[in-house]
Amino acid sequence: MSPASGPGPGWLLFSFGMGLVSGTKCPNNCLCQAQEVNCTAMHLTEYPPDIPLNTRRLYLNNNRITSLPAMHLGLLSDLVYLDCHSNWIREVMDYTFIGVFRLIYLDLSSNNLTSISPFSFSVLNNLVQLNLANNPRLLSLDKYTFANTSSLRYLDLRNTGLQTLDHAALHHLVVLQTLYLSGNPWKCNCSFMDFAIYLIVSHLEPPDDENATCVEPTELAGWPITQVGNPLRYMCLTHLDRQDYIFLLLIGFCIFAAGTVAAWLTGMCAVLYQNARRKSSEEEAEDEAGHRAEVTRRIFQTKEKSGQEGFPQLI
Ligand SMILES: *[C@@H]1O[C@H](CO)[C@@H](O)[C@H](O)[C@H]1NC(C)=O
Ligand SMILES: *[C@@H]1O[C@H](CO)[C@@H](O)[C@H](O)[C@H]1NC(C)=O
Ligand SMILES: *[C@@H]1O[C@H](CO)[C@@H](O)[C@H](O)[C@H]1NC(C)=O
Ligand SMILES: *[C@@H]1O[C@H](CO)[C@@H](O)[C@H](O)[C@H]1NC(C)=O
Ligand SMILES: *[C@@H]1O[C@H](CO)[C@@H](O)[C@H](O)[C@H]1NC(C)=O
Repeated sequence: MSPASGPGPGWLLFSFGMGLVSGTKCPNNCLCQAQEVNCTAMHLTEYPPDIPLNTRRLYLNNNRITSLPAMHLGLLSDLVYLDCHSNWIREVMDYTFIGVFRLIYLDLSSNNLTSISPFSFSVLNNLVQLNLANNPRLLSLDKYTFANTSSLRYLDLRNTGLQTLDHAALHHLVVLQTLYLSGNPWKCNCSFMDFAIYLIVSHLEPPDDENATCVEPTELAGWPITQVGNPLRYMCLTHLDRQDYIFLLLIGFCIFAAGTVAAWLTGMCAVLYQNARRKSSEEEAEDEAGHRAEVTRRIFQTKEKSGQEGFPQLI
């Protein structure tokens, strides 16, 4: 047989392509069946190669994977379910999930996440369930992190290092039903007020709300964060600085001084008025006395006159 009659390079390329597309390849040790790849607890230290391109569900949980390569992940454009819990993933970049825009379920819990770039989830507008729990080094989330995940119904943020959350991070998630927030060192200062009020007005009632408590400040330590909205509003909106106190003291002093002066003036006026009245009434009394004397005198005069002329002399 001549070598030309055997399978040529064209055939090799074709079978390679078919293998990728039809999913006949499968990563070592993983179980692949019906668009599902299960690599649970396979001691993987990195993202496995050879994942069939038509995979819809991918289980990478319980391994030691430290990062998700956007290039390889991005080939799985049909992926709707990605479970990466219990790995060593350190960070999620803006482009990590850019190719897997159909994702509905994403579990990144129990990893070593220290940062999530603000636009990491920006193409995941079908995402319904997101689990970021048990990432104790995750200290903050940008307020735009969930800006485009408008289908989100379930969000788990338990046991992270989150101290605060911008209220704008979640307020547009209108279909959000379940929000876990416990086990975080919430810092209930005045910046936290808007988020605390959002928790009240959104009627979300986190299922773990009694365990989602403030760690700071000491006055609110141990308070459930779903109940600090009103205390914070009271503390923060009626909060006064030293300058305010000085200003208030000055105002108080001015009012006091003005009051004193007014009282003094009133007193003076009253005294003057009393004096004036007494004087005038004395004069009046004098006048009256004079007048009375005059009247008496006139009467006596008339009596004298009448005594002489008025009565007819009988004798
Ligand atoms: C994946 O495989 C493991 C065993 O290797 C099994 O315990 C687990 O149930 C499988 N998961 C799914 C979703 O099939
Ligand atoms: C987690 O990350 C920190 C640094 O960010 C590193 O020191 C630590 O070893 C990591 N832990 C694991 C289990 O990868
Ligand atoms: C949301 O998605 C739109 C397009 O779909 C994009 O222009 C925008 O930058 C995204 N915003 C964020 C905060 O990711
Ligand atoms: C509240 O605490 C957060 C987190 O530590 C901090 O970023 C913010 O500046 C604090 N705000 C105020 C008003 O102190
Ligand atoms: C709160 O925490 C305690 C102790 O960790 C636990 O027993 C309880 O089930 C938790 N409650 C909720 C609602 O998560």
